[in-house]
Amino acid sequence: MQRSWAAIAIFLSVLLSAIGVLAVLTNDAVPDWVSRTSSYQAPRGASPEIPPTDIRVLSRMGAIEQVHLVASRHDRVTLVFVRDISASPDMPLQLQATVRYGRNATTLDNEGLAKARVYTGMQEYNSYLWNPPMGAPFLNRSAVAALMNTQSWAQPWWQVYNNDTAADIPENKSVNAAYNNPASLYQSPLIYTVKLENLLPNTQYFYEIEGEYSGNFTTLPMDGDHSKPLTLGMWADVGQTNVSALNMEYLLHDVNPDLVLLAGDLSYADAFQQRWDTWGRLMEPLMSHKLSLFCNADHELNVGNEQNVGYMFRYPAPFDESNSPSFEYYSFKTGPLHVIALGSYTVFNRSSVQYRWLEEELSRVDRRRTPWLLVMLHVPWYCSNFVHIGEGLLMRESMEPLLYKYGVDIVLTGHVHAYERTYPVYQNVTNPCGPVHFDLGDCR
Ligand SMILES: [Fe+2]
Repeated sequence: MQRSWAAIAIFLSVLLSAIGVLAVLTNDAVPDWVSRTSSYQAPRGASPEIPPTDIRVLSRMGAIEQVHLVASRHDRVTLVFVRDISASPDMPLQLQATVRYGRNATTLDNEGLAKARVYTGMQEYNSYLWNPPMGAPFLNRSAVAALMNTQSWAQPWWQVYNNDTAADIPENKSVNAAYNNPASLYQSPLIYTVKLENLLPNTQYFYEIEGEYSGNFTTLPMDGDHSKPLTLGMWADVGQTNVSALNMEYLLHDVNPDLVLLAGDLSYADAFQQRWDTWGRLMEPLMSHKLSLFCNADHELNVGNEQNVGYMFRYPAPFDESNSPSFEYYSFKTGPLHVIALGSYTVFNRSSVQYRWLEEELSRVDRRRTPWLLVMLHVPWYCSNFVHIGEGLLMRESMEPLLYKYGVDIVLTGHVHAYERTYPVYQNVTNPCGPVHFDLGDCR
């Protein structure tokens, strides 16, 4: 096997912070399971949430926005973008959009038809909105109560809507508007998706959406092409604080990666669905220009009972392209790298579909073409964070032997908003044939 750490350049985009219980932990306070090449780092500090009035996250009111690129296959990129028509009732309903793209910015000789989808979410007002475990509040309790309160327009005799005030909003508990309160229904913007096909590798492409939005990106090398280093930007637990924005800028301008891997917890919308839109706008400078891959996590699934809906509609994983039956696990190959994304909150026991797919996928890896094998999932298997110490253990017990058998090099995780990196490890013991675990997370 021809493998060299020099063959792949990995830049970690990690800005660290933690408050509360994380802040009192130190590396000395936890059992030392395995040797680490970087100790557990979770500095104190809280970064303010970017408020909904910030110009970076304001709706563009009917114009193309939230443009992002998802890696799909060596010759294909998925382009996703949005129109918010919620304040434009007279605007024609355009359910399709034309995307022109090509290698020459002036000719754009390829065309794709993007199709729109929309979803409805039942709003949950998670206490993280006004009492976040990290960072400053996005909204206060009065603002949340006002969102639910229909007194100013509902007839009293309807008796079905919420009349809450700030006093009705508990400090540490989530609340739902009544199911029959129209104010509790969120309609997503028009979310357009199109696959840009037949792309050449290592090539810059320009694109234009409906003649009103233009951008460019560079395709990735074919798998098996080891002619130049591959630069990865890796992050997790991103959120939408000032530090999230700084980290995004750092990835874009300083790391300048070929591919961005985000190991779960994207927007922290937590079923307050507008936060998917603000996050999409905030991240657009990076994501409209760089190809990304994602995996889903607790803030995509169960915090606020999201059930992956916002994530699925907006960040389509290339699972069709990798013989996977689920968006929760898939693979992607480029240059010297084979990436496998797994679901930490997807059934992972030996009889599960995920486990069986993983075993088949690992057996398909061609180490001559892709000598680097990276597995991305959300919840760390090795971690010095007491709060989350046991969460990854069952999955580790189930799947670690598979990863070891097939010689996985790197396991990339997030979840604990801290940075830690192990020596190669297997079953709690430093082992040169085991993967190195990178645990990393953005500041919130
Ligand atoms: Fe998480």
